[in-house]
Amino acid sequence: MANQLAVVTGASMGIGYNLAKVFAENGFDLVLGSEPEGLSKVEIDLRALGVQVKAVAVDLSKYDEVLRFWSEVEAVGRPVDAIAINAGIGSGGLFAETDLDVEIRLVRTNVEGTMHLAKHAVKHMVPRGAGRILITASIISEMVAPRELVYAASKSFDLAFAKGLRAELKDTGVTVTALQPGPTDTHFFDREGLSDTDAGTKGKKGNDPYDVAKQGFKALMEGDDHVYAASLSTKLQGALMGLVPDALQAKLHDDMTKPLEEK
Ligand SMILES: NC(=O)c1ccc[n+]([C@@H]2O[C@H](COP(=O)([O-])OP(=O)(O)OC[C@H]3O[C@@H](n4cnc5c(N)ncnc54)[C@H](OP(=O)(O)O)[C@@H]3O)[C@@H](O)[C@H]2O)c1
Repeated sequence: MANQLAVVTGASMGIGYNLAKVFAENGFDLVLGSEPEGLSKVEIDLRALGVQVKAVAVDLSKYDEVLRFWSEVEAVGRPVDAIAINAGIGSGGLFAETDLDVEIRLVRTNVEGTMHLAKHAVKHMVPRGAGRILITASIISEMVAPRELVYAASKSFDLAFAKGLRAELKDTGVTVTALQPGPTDTHFFDREGLSDTDAGTKGKKGNDPYDVAKQGFKALMEGDDHVYAASLSTKLQGALMGLVPDALQAKLHDDMTKPLEEK
């Protein structure tokens, strides 16, 4: 039987790379989308798992680039069985001091890029009556998160979008699953300028990106609505955070993301 086909964005490293790896381990051919850094090595690594891989360098913060990426997916000429819309960036620091250009790029990637790519995936999958969509939100989607507030708001969008889309598509054969990782050991915190914080040091050690990806894949295949991934403490935090008053949530998050030298 022919392999199924999966699309994964943000696949050059971190959670996206591990999602692509888990898809490959489960016999999916792949179309990968990411900014160019590291993508050719990823392509070679994943081909070694015995699947076909097409890697497309793309900037998903740009409307025309999302269109080009989708045309590269369609050029494969096969139905897309699953898509993991995962590419995302963060921005750490106090809003009064952070760089607006970074935050606009963040919103364009995490919000506009996610929604735009989902539009193409939905229009492709619904007429076929089959497909699986995984959207990487976060545990932060449900938190009051000073010093990461634009990022948190973007991930709240991703979660709300995934939940609403799931409800709309419930009778179509297409499922939507939100992946909600806790702090995960990738380059994410360094890239958002939070490497010298509790979150960017001991906090991120709480979750291994391969474990996050395995749980995301399992939830996707089982058609679950969402999964808090991956450790027990992340699952507990996800389940209980709604019971914590906003002011305490804000204090806890501020503490985790404050530069160590200010503590
Ligand atoms: N790490 C965590 O603690 C954590 C927790 C919860 C949720 N998440 C979410 O998980 C997802 C992956 O994060 P990660 O931790 O794996 O981060 P990461 O290691 O920094 O990887 C991010 C990936 O997204 C790609 N990317 C970023 N902006 C892009 C753009 N404009 N166009 C195309 N590709 C782009 C990157 O490509 P390049 O490397 O080429 O830039 C990279 O492949 C994100 O949506 C993030 O919000 C992360």
